[in-house]
Amino acid sequence: MSRSRGGELRLAATLAAMTAVAAGAVVAAPGRVAALLEASARALRSRRTKRKPVRVYMDGCFDLAHFGHANALRQAKACGDTLVVGLIPDAEVLRCKGPPVLREAERRAVIASVKWVDEIIENVPYDLTPEFCETLYSKHGIDFIVHGDDPCLLPDGTDAYDAPKRAGRFRMIKRTEGVSTTDIVNRVLRAAASDERREKKKTKRDDTSDDDDVAADDDATTSSRHSPQNRFLATTRRIAQFSGGGRAPQPGQRVVYAHGAFDLFNAGHVRLLREAKKMGDFLLVGVHDDQAARRGRGAAYPVLALQERALGVMACRHVDDVIVGAPGEVTRDLIATFDVQTVVAEREDENRTTDDEFQANAASRLLDDAPAGPTRETDDETRSMSHAGSRDPNGLAKTLGLFREVPRLSSHGASGADGLTSSEIVRRVAAARAAYEARNARKNQSEARYYEQKSNRTIELARET
Ligand code: CTP
Repeated sequence: MSRSRGGELRLAATLAAMTAVAAGAVVAAPGRVAALLEASARALRSRRTKRKPVRVYMDGCFDLAHFGHANALRQAKACGDTLVVGLIPDAEVLRCKGPPVLREAERRAVIASVKWVDEIIENVPYDLTPEFCETLYSKHGIDFIVHGDDPCLLPDGTDAYDAPKRAGRFRMIKRTEGVSTTDIVNRVLRAAASDERREKKKTKRDDTSDDDDVAADDDATTSSRHSPQNRFLATTRRIAQFSGGGRAPQPGQRVVYAHGAFDLFNAGHVRLLREAKKMGDFLLVGVHDDQAARRGRGAAYPVLALQERALGVMACRHVDDVIVGAPGEVTRDLIATFDVQTVVAEREDENRTTDDEFQANAASRLLDDAPAGPTRETDDETRSMSHAGSRDPNGLAKTLGLFREVPRLSSHGASGADGLTSSEIVRRVAAARAAYEARNARKNQSEARYYEQKSNRTIELARET
């Protein structure tokens, strides 16, 4: 009998014996057989656990990181075991796509917070040259390189992923429709234009008190708020993929509640959520409904709609569960329902203007709602009003001694990425309007081509983690 034939027979005998063990047929085989079976089972177990993890690489600019990027990262992770992200540096983004809105450290902070990301490599080139791919394979142990099904062209028109495709190391995932950095920059440009109009109106109102003009302008801005470009359709499947089904706090766990608009999810939000999580065991995040998110900010806000903002928060690794469409203020009911022990708020934007109308409404609503006789609840809620007569969204939590604040950082560079705010993003885009309009004009064309030519051949990967 040849050696290989003997090996095959031994393997077959071992497998048959192991199958019998697995089926419970052999309970206490005597002596050598039992030892042999045990050793074989051990070898198989260890071979399984020692299977080399598949390492996948996804690179990108991830500027104004949105839920489309998060969904790309989720799918990339599903292509293997370990997801390594290559973050393209500012100079490369500038060279190949135009000026990024966010600096590298700011883009990095958000990507590092995405729950499907395991490692980040910095300073990677936009072009995956054969040499760079070799470095990925040999130095970083990458098995596959992943990108969305949209074409990714270099400035000379050639395919940036040509080398891994030729090497059979390329995997394609489905691009998420209805969102892109270009689309968000377009929306931010509209919001900035609306801010300018609002400023002008305020000056005019101060000068002439012509409220009819102001109201007409507000209506015009509101109706153009959700443009046809906002094509994202939220499904329960997408929410389940992002949330992992949501988790419930375990008995004895301390529930922390952080809430806010979380518009243009950015490094400042990540910092708040990271710090909030440290204050307890379970982080519940309230993403304000669109109406609450708009308060005090004007009709062009929030830039992203509720489902878009909620998905951004769900992708963050510090978050355990999310209330989609939370009220703007923390109520007694919310505290009791979710057993909240600590409340942390998104820090107030230093540039947020006061919305007199909301505050007046809030004050009258409180008076309308108040029962005739004084109760403990109304006392608490009355105290939750600031002396200016406006309602403090965290007033009740403060009165109940549950409120904790994360110190505010400067949004002008001194605090690095952590100090970033949504309004700083709007300011930056507005300040370089011409450059972003030029960049977007190019990108708008290629996106329109993608939507015209899109086929449904790329199947989205469904695995959640
Ligand atoms: N991506 C995606 N869905 C989107 C946007 C991006 O799947 N709606 C994927 C891209 O295909 C790529 C990764 O996210 O694999 C990183 O994309 P990035 O380099 O940031 O640039 P773009 O593809 O141009 O994305 P955007 O237009 O949003 O900047």
